[in-house]
Amino acid sequence: MAQIIDGRAIAREVLARTADEVAAMVAATGQAPGLAVILVGHDPASEVYVGRKVGQCRKAGIRSIEHRLPETTPEADLLALIDTLNADPAVHGILVQLPLPRAIDAGRVLDRIAPGKDVDGFHPVNVGRLSTGTGGLVPCTPLGIMMLIDTVIDDYRGLNVCVIGKSNIVGKPVSMLLLEREATVTVTHIETRDLPDIARKADIIVAAAGAPHLVRGYWVKPGAVVIDVGINRVTDPDGTTRIIGDCATHELDHARAVTPVPGGVGPMTIACLLANTVKAAKTAAIA
Ligand code: GUN
Repeated sequence: MAQIIDGRAIAREVLARTADEVAAMVAATGQAPGLAVILVGHDPASEVYVGRKVGQCRKAGIRSIEHRLPETTPEADLLALIDTLNADPAVHGILVQLPLPRAIDAGRVLDRIAPGKDVDGFHPVNVGRLSTGTGGLVPCTPLGIMMLIDTVIDDYRGLNVCVIGKSNIVGKPVSMLLLEREATVTVTHIETRDLPDIARKADIIVAAAGAPHLVRGYWVKPGAVVIDVGINRVTDPDGTTRIIGDCATHELDHARAVTPVPGGVGPMTIACLLANTVKAAKTAAIA
């Protein structure tokens, strides 16, 4: 039977450590870290994520400042808001929830966030820092994925990793973190040939394809560690909906360890966002 890596429990530990750090900062400086969260429009999933992010901030003692803007917000207004938040010393982190409405150029918006306040780690300066191994803020989901793998693997040197998905949010940055630990990383995507063969050679599989139950039992070598980043909503024949991952976990008894969906990677993302906000506040304090 594969070990189930309990993301909820590990996220709770990260949140508790973060809350302790916030309390220490407040005691030392009289000021709590501040996170500005911007949501443009009413994407239902984004509303849920933003609500959770703000709720967890409050629990940890981080001051969260919500900016909910209408779907029709001109890009110039959003850029002006970011300029104001960049200049506000009480704001240590800025998060613009994605996706943005089609009329807004997300790249231009992310480029406008001051790199030191970019708690998502999406700004080109932070992407460059990650790929050169020179610090900066690291995207939350990849950071959380590494913490989960760290619970079962301490030496990554020479291990074969198959990353499925080449997104800027997960696939590319997690590959950089794994390379930094000297794993041998193969990044695969929708055009990859013979994906099951590549996956079967891997000691670690990180599945971030957004494809329900893509990774089947025969794709996974006995003893491999499988990290499931998928969040796919499916409707059963009786009309009930549920969330399933990118991996057919019920076929993975021969794996060494797997993350469940829900309760694996998901809770880690928010915990790492809060940790990044504290990191940004600490870095600002010594700058
Ligand atoms: N939308 C989906 N995932 C993310 C994320 O990690 N950060 C932001 N800002 N938006 C998202």
